[in-house]
Amino acid sequence: MTIPNALFVGVNSIFIPEMDSTNVYAMELLSKTNPCEGTCIFTDFQTAGRGQIGRFWHSSAHSNLLVSYILYPKFLNANQQFYLNIISSLATLKVVQSYTADATIKWPNDIYVGDQKLAGILVQNTWRGAKIKATVIGIGLNVNELNFPPSLPNPTSLISLTGVKIDLSQIRAQMSSRLEYYYLKLRNGDLDYLRRSYLDHLYRMGKLSSFIIHDQLVEGTIIGIDDLGKIQVNIDNNLRSFDLREIIYVI
Ligand code: BTN
Repeated sequence: MTIPNALFVGVNSIFIPEMDSTNVYAMELLSKTNPCEGTCIFTDFQTAGRGQIGRFWHSSAHSNLLVSYILYPKFLNANQQFYLNIISSLATLKVVQSYTADATIKWPNDIYVGDQKLAGILVQNTWRGAKIKATVIGIGLNVNELNFPPSLPNPTSLISLTGVKIDLSQIRAQMSSRLEYYYLKLRNGDLDYLRRSYLDHLYRMGKLSSFIIHDQLVEGTIIGIDDLGKIQVNIDNNLRSFDLREIIYVI
């Protein structure tokens, strides 16, 4: 299927062969200048790639998609910021689905195939008062990676899943186009559609699963997300909501 080129997302692009982190670079750029909406920063190698909750993001040189997009979702209220996770997850999911079946979104915004992690996303917002001024959506998608450090619990890559090497500029163009599609849905106020699409693809949705919560092994069933994007789990018929630091999936 041919995907239309994006009109503004990824059109202005900054490529730096090696850098600390595309997210850090994008945040610095935002603090000094006024990059046009959709600007993307991409690299072949990060020396200090950032993951969620202070983690490091591993990626061998020249192997994977490492990109950060700058957007200005000034139309969002503070309590709607989780929609940025939703649109970036859906965009990445769509790209991945064009190469491999059975991909899901592991809350809040990882892409999984089976029980293996294929992509991670780091969304960082800047604020003006109670409104989002700008967002940086950093996406790390394992494309041609074959050597994962043993410390990573369950990584995978598109080449491991399909046996096919993929051109990184092609996959970046797909990503820009998909992100633009979902960003425009968000700007248009199609919140119900975005939320439903996200829940339709949520990893372990409706399945009894094990989690670690406050150092305890717990069985529960994910039933959705709350209005702020916290994961909702039914545990012994009690509906409980958790943020990222409060719940660990047992995989
Ligand atoms: C996670 O799963 O913890 C999120 C990982 C996000 C990694 C990407 S790679 C491109 C961008 N630059 C960064 O430093 N991090 C994000």
